[in-house]
Amino acid sequence: MLLPLSSVEKEKPMNEIINSLRQRHQSQWKNQLSHIESRSQHVSSMVVEGRLNRMVGLTLEAVGCQAVIGSRCLVSSQENNPVEAEVVGFAGEKLYLMPTGNIRGIHPDATVIPTNQIYEAHVGDALLGRVLDGRGQPIDGKGPLVTSESRALVAEPVNPLKRQPIDTPLDVGVRAINSLFTVGRGQRMGLFAGSGVGKSMLLGMMTKFTAADVIVVGLIGERGREVKEFIEDILGEEGMARAVVVAVPADQPPVMRMHGAYQATSIAEHFRDEGRNVLLLMDSLTRFAQAQREIALAIGEPPATKGYPPSVFAMLPQLVERAGNGEKGGGSITAFYTVLTEGDDQQDPIADSARAILDGHIVLSRELAESGHYPAIDVEASISRAMNAVVSEEHLHAAQKFRQVYSVYQQNRDLISVGAYAEGSSPDVDESIRLHSSQLAFLRQDRNEAVSWQQSIEQLQGLLQSAEQSAAENENTSLMANF
Ligand SMILES: Nc1ncnc2c1ncn2[C@@H]1O[C@H](COP(=O)(O)OP(=O)(O)OP(=O)(O)O)[C@@H](O)[C@H]1O
Ligand SMILES: [Mg+2]
Repeated sequence: MLLPLSSVEKEKPMNEIINSLRQRHQSQWKNQLSHIESRSQHVSSMVVEGRLNRMVGLTLEAVGCQAVIGSRCLVSSQENNPVEAEVVGFAGEKLYLMPTGNIRGIHPDATVIPTNQIYEAHVGDALLGRVLDGRGQPIDGKGPLVTSESRALVAEPVNPLKRQPIDTPLDVGVRAINSLFTVGRGQRMGLFAGSGVGKSMLLGMMTKFTAADVIVVGLIGERGREVKEFIEDILGEEGMARAVVVAVPADQPPVMRMHGAYQATSIAEHFRDEGRNVLLLMDSLTRFAQAQREIALAIGEPPATKGYPPSVFAMLPQLVERAGNGEKGGGSITAFYTVLTEGDDQQDPIADSARAILDGHIVLSRELAESGHYPAIDVEASISRAMNAVVSEEHLHAAQKFRQVYSVYQQNRDLISVGAYAEGSSPDVDESIRLHSSQLAFLRQDRNEAVSWQQSIEQLQGLLQSAEQSAAENENTSLMANF
């Protein structure tokens, strides 16, 4: 484009004239580009509506619009409110959506409006003492929530190289765990058990008695009745005061159940980033995996292991890795994930996968629960992989000694119970018999009794010392008898 020179400019030397022409060209181009930019922004903010093409089960198929995976869409309904749905997949021109609420009123050819919004969790101190649903809305009837901050529901875990190492023990208030399977701040543990063996009760004890600053409980995919029971009977007012509960029972759509687990994790991340020590309890990881299985199968992903599609095994570590220690100066998220071992089958693919990605597991035994031994912790099958890093050598030896003696008894249990074992045949078995009842008493703990970390270690050492004394006395007596 040629720009005419003014009479003043014509008087200037040639190089100045060229410079001034350049500047005018540049500013003209800048104006034109910014005009184009503002028009393009206007175009991208235009809403493109799609249509509902098909619905199979809970999967909605929309055509004519585009949206990002994980974003919200609104589907018109013959009832008053539009139905909210999340984009969970696509194939060519088709978008696959899953509703996050009730789908009543949805009809063929319904309008689908992508909102271009991703799901967020509202966070802040106002959440303490509250019970939320998968959307983050309070369901406890204590009025609306006032929070000023929010964070993405699905977030990146902390860079593994920047994480603080696990080096401090966390007092969970349960003697057997504190002493034999010590949990470090920032450790992620599994709680493996079949149904009705005492998972919820144990989580409740930890919620009430732990030394953590904040407790976030995710009740995912359990029975609705259990949610009320957990909050009123197991947690009680004392437990609720510094806890946030996210409850998404089994009757909620699979997307909501997954959101519940993400909500709980995002809330825990918020408190951790504020420098607090958080205990995150997720009941259960299996129901989270089953929700993802429902979604993945519905949109056509082939099943792989025991009906679970591969995406389930990719999502488990993505969720679990978000817990753990923060960067230097930040707080920690110590997490317990319950894993249902259906029919007490420890080879369940979710249990297998969880065992590999968690830093230890506590196994609850049905046999112990049936005999009224609570918490029904299977000492031989449980392990805390971070224990070595957080306890003293003395404590570690005492815990190992306890487990060895317990294990010797279990291996000879049949012989002992039928009276086929002759006392004196093996000093190890003799010791295990002598200690057995005090070991069982040590492992048992009333649901209302709190045992601090310090007390747990003292009681463990006390038990082993008294055993050594009685062994020495026994030896003296037998020596005297022989003499
Ligand atoms: N520490 C305990 N002291 C006394 N009884 C207990 C204890 N723990 C569990 N129980 C008994 O076991 C029952 C089942 O416990 P709980 O509800 O915690 O199991 P669960 O594994 O969470 O079950 P579900 O799989 O159905 O969720 C309780 O109703 C209670 O009777
Ligand atoms: Mg339960």
